Amino acid sequence: MLLCINSSVRDEGSRSRLLVDQFSAAWRDHHPGEAIAWRDVGKNPPSHPSADYITANYTSPEKRTREMVAVLEESDQLIDEIFSATHLVFGVPMYNFCVPSMLKAYIDNLVRIGRTFRVMPDGGFEGLLSGKKMVVIVAKGAIYAKGTSMESFDHVEPYMRTVFGFMGVVDMQFVAADGMDFGDEEYRDISFAKAGYELKKIVERWQLER
Ligand SMILES: Cc1cc2nc3c(=O)[nH]c(=O)nc-3n(C[C@H](O)[C@H](O)[C@H](O)COP(=O)(O)O)c2cc1C
Repeated sequence: MLLCINSSVRDEGSRSRLLVDQFSAAWRDHHPGEAIAWRDVGKNPPSHPSADYITANYTSPEKRTREMVAVLEESDQLIDEIFSATHLVFGVPMYNFCVPSMLKAYIDNLVRIGRTFRVMPDGGFEGLLSGKKMVVIVAKGAIYAKGTSMESFDHVEPYMRTVFGFMGVVDMQFVAADGMDFGDEEYRDISFAKAGYELKKIVERWQLER
């Protein structure tokens, strides 16, 4: 199953949503009849962590009260959903050089001891979300080309790589549509079209790797 996770607050005019749509349409062409699930954290942001959530999370499952179980329910559902997917596509608008806070809240619900990672006897960590293929589509207003002074401002990819890598996702690709607001019109059109082309190629590659 493909799980599409959108995180733009915009509906109309959202480039990340358009690219996720292109990706899911290409996926559907290659996998007719296969389920596609949708999660919209831009429009329906998950809860932020609370003190009760943290207490419940760090109480071992057999000792949790009914209230603790209830407090973890939303997180459990989001984790069950991501576990049920084999392929993940994220639509991410860059907000202030990182991911939108709604996507951060979603991720805060996913990173759970005993569910998406565990502590090893030697104190190291093991991610439990292994075996999934993931693509992150990032729409950015400005241009963050390698070798320019803007390159180091882009915290979307390093953050997503770190946190999903921590949870055990190894197969992760990034496709950027940059210059969406500040590049000239020609750059914008080429950047968007190039992102769409790269996504089509990823769907084809994933098909071959099955
Ligand atoms: C709150 C907010 C913060 C933004 N911050 C940045 C930023 O730090 N760098 C950047 O290049 N673009 C920034 N942008 C522009 C968006 O990344 C760009 O418009 C992108 O296309 C948004 O994704 P969407 O089209 O899917 O909504 C910001 C936009 C908003 C609304």
